[in-house]
Amino acid sequence: MSNYHIKHLEEYFKVYRKSVREPENFWEEIAEEHFVWRKKWDKVLDWDFSKPAVKWFEGAKLNITENCIDRHLTTKGDKTAILFEPNDPNEKAEHISYNQLHERVNKFANVLKEQGVKKGDRVCIYVPMIPELAIATLACARIGAIHSVVFAGFSSKALATRINDSDCKLVITSDGSYRGKKTIDLKGIVDEALENCDCVESVLVVKRINSDIYLKEGRDKWLQPLLDNASAVCKAEIMDAEDPLFILYTSGSTGTPKGMVHTTAGYMVYTAYTFKNAFQYRDDDVYWCTADIGWITGHSYIVYGPLANGATTVMFEGVPSYPSFGRFWEIVEKHKVNQFYTAPTAIRALSKHGGELVEKYDLSSLKVLGSVGEPINEEAWHWYNDNIGKKKSPIVDTWWQTETGGMMITPIPYVTPTKPTYATLPFIGVQPALMDENGNELKGNQVEGRLCIKYPWPSMARTIWGNHQRYKETYFSAFDNMYFTGDGALRDEVGYYRITGRVDDVIIVSGHNLGTAPIEDAINEHPAIAESAIVGFPHDIKGSALYGYITLKDAGEYRNHDNLKKEINQLITDRIGPIAKLDKIQFSDGLPKTRSGKIMRRILRKIASNELDNLGDTSTLLNPEVVQSIIDKRL
Ligand code: PRX
Repeated sequence: MSNYHIKHLEEYFKVYRKSVREPENFWEEIAEEHFVWRKKWDKVLDWDFSKPAVKWFEGAKLNITENCIDRHLTTKGDKTAILFEPNDPNEKAEHISYNQLHERVNKFANVLKEQGVKKGDRVCIYVPMIPELAIATLACARIGAIHSVVFAGFSSKALATRINDSDCKLVITSDGSYRGKKTIDLKGIVDEALENCDCVESVLVVKRINSDIYLKEGRDKWLQPLLDNASAVCKAEIMDAEDPLFILYTSGSTGTPKGMVHTTAGYMVYTAYTFKNAFQYRDDDVYWCTADIGWITGHSYIVYGPLANGATTVMFEGVPSYPSFGRFWEIVEKHKVNQFYTAPTAIRALSKHGGELVEKYDLSSLKVLGSVGEPINEEAWHWYNDNIGKKKSPIVDTWWQTETGGMMITPIPYVTPTKPTYATLPFIGVQPALMDENGNELKGNQVEGRLCIKYPWPSMARTIWGNHQRYKETYFSAFDNMYFTGDGALRDEVGYYRITGRVDDVIIVSGHNLGTAPIEDAINEHPAIAESAIVGFPHDIKGSALYGYITLKDAGEYRNHDNLKKEINQLITDRIGPIAKLDKIQFSDGLPKTRSGKIMRRILRKIASNELDNLGDTSTLLNPEVVQSIIDKRL
């Protein structure tokens, strides 16, 4: 009997035990019974964390789009696969059935082939949240090209870095995008990026805002005429289980963004299985995840996980505040959404700016509420539970990462009793460990440490594109034979996990991972700036916001500080994107440093958070005197 759909707590424990005691048998059964394969695997799992090398379902042959689309056509051809809700509430929503999705993906795949894209080639997708974004990813998967979706809020520099890092041959973009009342000139950003990308041979442009754009002769083409002429039949490329499916960049605490590589079979099996259980998805449900497909949440839980289950998945183009802060609830009412998945930062903004708007809408369709991307604070949890779920819909606080591909610690709704701010129990097959700083595992309950995973799970990233050594150093070197997440966590008296936050120099702002080093590098390009240090501080809506401590070169001292602040944020916007702008900027005479010259961020973090009582020992610093002057001038 399959354990695909877990319905009771005892069943969870039973299945969990099996997944840990006999992982290979367990995953083999799930894979065998719930997916279509062109050829079954020779071996379920082969792994060695010291290399690190992990292979799931080795020898198997498949195409993920046959699992996400083709196999549903006989039973669900007319069912809505993607339900597109445009930015403007007056524009009609679009229901794309599985039959239509099949046709559109096949046509798009044929267009890609005509442009010379072949199996293994990289395709960059820089498209807003319109159906073509999902269709483009699936079209790549159809022909075995590796997609690299870049969030369409990144700047041209950030886009260029990502295109070059994985040598993308083709870029898919749009003439522009809508964001609330604004339009954004995406094609202009791509043009700027491509000035520095020699690898790109062609650009396909989706028409969305009907703007007058420049098309570079021989390189850029409107997509629609090509689609109109394309055949609706495209044979799926048969892929190996371990062939890369996509690359998705995530910020590290240092260096360039890391292109996390996800492969085909394990990713498919795990995202589908987690989707089914963590949302208790049933056949006629309408599921909505508010994330952007530019992030892993969108890859796994707007596109692949839901479609592999034959679900109806909502794609929303707009923002939660347009035309009012009631927009999310209006959409829930309009499409009778059953599962709603969002980020704590959105919950906080909606509770603060539009709490009274909730009452206007009928939210009775909701059965499950999800949260992802950062720790959810107690207040936000209760507001979500009381006002949106009306205390009837369980909240699944799902902890996971770009690197993990799928949810790792999460309640299963109506199965796992929830507890505010706790991600609760590991998902089936996930073996977490809490480690102390000396590398010892903290056994038992009521302990707090660094969160690691002891055993492979099917959707883990296999490498960093072009830099396996960095993959090993970042994730497999802190602790022997374990994947290190970069997060801290505690385990309570019953074994529930609570994620306490990052233990490295990654700061999560509005649910977006930001490494401090790239931001500092951008700031340090300013000719008047000598040095900078970025830390996070608590923020009502964003969870954390960025606080920059900046020292000026002599000449900079004579500059107008307000203008300098604007220039700093402009530099950050140009180099990374507006999401990385600083909320507070303090100019200081120096930065506290250890005797070896390292900036003591711990102290700066405490000052930014106004925790002045407990600064720790500052006497060993190279320059203890700067601490008081920084405190005196804090913002
Ligand atoms: O710190 C954790 C936090 O987000 C990080 C991963 O970010 P990213 O790769 O962008 O993926 C976000 C979407 C999966 C984690 O290392 N994080 C994510 N979910 C939670 C969380 N922190 C606390 N609770 C969560 N539910």
